[in-house]
Amino acid sequence: MVGSVLMDRMQAEGDFQLIEPLFFSTSNAGGKAPAMAKNETALKDAHDLEALKKCDIIVTAQGGDYTSAVFPKLRAAGWNGHWIDAASTLRMNDDAIIVLDPVNLPVIQKALAKGGKNWIGGNCTVSCMLMGVGALYKAGLVEWMTSMTYQAASGGGAQHMRELLTQFGSLHADVRALLDDPKSAILEIDRKVLARQQSLSAAETSNFGVPLGGSLIPWIDKDLGDGTSKEEWKAGAETNKILGQGAAFGTAATPVDGFCVRVGAMRCHSQALTFKLKKDVPLADIEALIAADNAWAKVVPNTREATLQDLTPVAVTGTMNIPVGRLRKLAMGPEYLGAFTIGDQLLWGAAEPLRRMLRILLE
Ligand code: HSE
Repeated sequence: MVGSVLMDRMQAEGDFQLIEPLFFSTSNAGGKAPAMAKNETALKDAHDLEALKKCDIIVTAQGGDYTSAVFPKLRAAGWNGHWIDAASTLRMNDDAIIVLDPVNLPVIQKALAKGGKNWIGGNCTVSCMLMGVGALYKAGLVEWMTSMTYQAASGGGAQHMRELLTQFGSLHADVRALLDDPKSAILEIDRKVLARQQSLSAAETSNFGVPLGGSLIPWIDKDLGDGTSKEEWKAGAETNKILGQGAAFGTAATPVDGFCVRVGAMRCHSQALTFKLKKDVPLADIEALIAADNAWAKVVPNTREATLQDLTPVAVTGTMNIPVGRLRKLAMGPEYLGAFTIGDQLLWGAAEPLRRMLRILLE
């Protein structure tokens, strides 16, 4: 799915006109290559090291298992090209940079100057969050931040999106007759929905493990065994790495932590953020910093009307916009800032940073 979105974006931005692409597949080698292929008309085998070695740059959204299987062998075989990857496998390696150039172009440029070759896309929640509020980090204003996420089904993959919709369909089918009758009792509908949720078959919950339709799941990714989920760990680890700060850079890390929750949204990750700022900055200055940071972060006025209009997954899906709204000082004191931000996790959360890194290499 990330690969398809990536291809769409590369076509929309004319990236294929700047390169001579070869297309590789893990499942359909020999099949017809996409129309953008210039010299070769057939898909190549994505495990063919000799063919891969001929590439100056490899861009992959094939997933972590592929990266683990192919990347070490390619490097061991002496391949010295640029590897641009959506998978998390290499992300925290010392010789890998997490790419999000509107936020960390200086980190990328420094690594390029030193001969860096491994460019990895960040976790989707982290990338979308930093596209929205990275300005506050760049200005050195953040003492700590906590994020409470509302993550879409697409973060799990295409099958997860299908499963969510199938569950919604099953629930609706069971109460349809009652819904059609305006005099039916809502508590009876509610009871039937719960009964259906609790009796969804193993096939209907095989991806999420439990019902998500009409429910939520406050755990994403692996259990690290210390009470944290891997998704929660990534928030702190990756935010600091993207910003080029923390122990690996010989500087202090900014504490970033919170809870990551799967909800029944399709492909936008939303996040409620709480900042402890290092000083009391006027709200208008904060809004101005965020609005001026990059072309995609949009400040949504903190009103009910603007929030309902512009600060929902439905409003953001399929766009490059990263709205940041609900900006207000919290009751704890003037250094405590609340914010709510949303991003399409397949665009800024996955595909876009990769194609932009390709462009940087081509400059
Ligand atoms: N781990 C993310 C999620 C996917 O499950 O939503 C993208 O990094």
